[in-house]
Amino acid sequence: MSGRPLAGQRVIVSAGPTFEDIDPVRFIGNRSSGKMGFAVAAAAVELGAQVVLVAGPVSLPTPAGVQRIDVRSAAQMHAAVFAALPADVYIGAAAVADFTPRAVAGSKIKKRPGDDGLVLDLVRTRDILAELAADARRPALVVGFAAETDDVARYARGKLAAKRLDLIAANRVGVAGSGFESDDNALTVFDRDGGEHALGPAPKAQLAHELLELIARRPRAA
Ligand code: CTP
Repeated sequence: MSGRPLAGQRVIVSAGPTFEDIDPVRFIGNRSSGKMGFAVAAAAVELGAQVVLVAGPVSLPTPAGVQRIDVRSAAQMHAAVFAALPADVYIGAAAVADFTPRAVAGSKIKKRPGDDGLVLDLVRTRDILAELAADARRPALVVGFAAETDDVARYARGKLAAKRLDLIAANRVGVAGSGFESDDNALTVFDRDGGEHALGPAPKAQLAHELLELIARRPRAA
């Protein structure tokens, strides 16, 4: 394969967590450093792609050659991803919040004497990945991530089918040397044809490169 198999292709990557505000000082968020998604964006540039990186709140430098759009909430990430279309490839590496407060309190929620709990009213966020895969402007390749603590293959394959993805990269979280803040990771990539590809364990930069090589080799629908 040539060194730049993604030359001329436009790739959108989402990365990091989203923060869903409860009030001006509190939020609900996912554990995600953004490292894997940023490594994926950098690897896509190395393979020749034009890359838009939609980043949730993370403290990471922008990879060279990447157009970065910073967002905070799932709703903002949804809007930024769709505004970045058209694209040839979408890689959803972000840990998007599944629920968000129905309303954001305008001022700080205070404890009152006697309060022994707080009930939050949450609503589902829109599924960026699934909506993109079902959209008329669907990128030729839609790639998801799945962080699972157990039954990795079954859950990952379930998401691949339910969200109509081309590929899903699954990693087991909650074990040493994998996932979250770790610099190393291991992925199992499942494809819609029933194939399975084990990548790593390796530093996230190398793993991202291997994932992008796999993406570049995937046949595209015309
Ligand atoms: N995703 C998304 N929009 C959401 C939620 C998730 O685009 N609102 C994407 C993520 O970027 C990731 C994949 O969907 O690529 C993760 O799938 P999901 O089913 O949301 O995983 P979990 O949140 O782990 O689901 P569950 O809690 O059912 O395991």
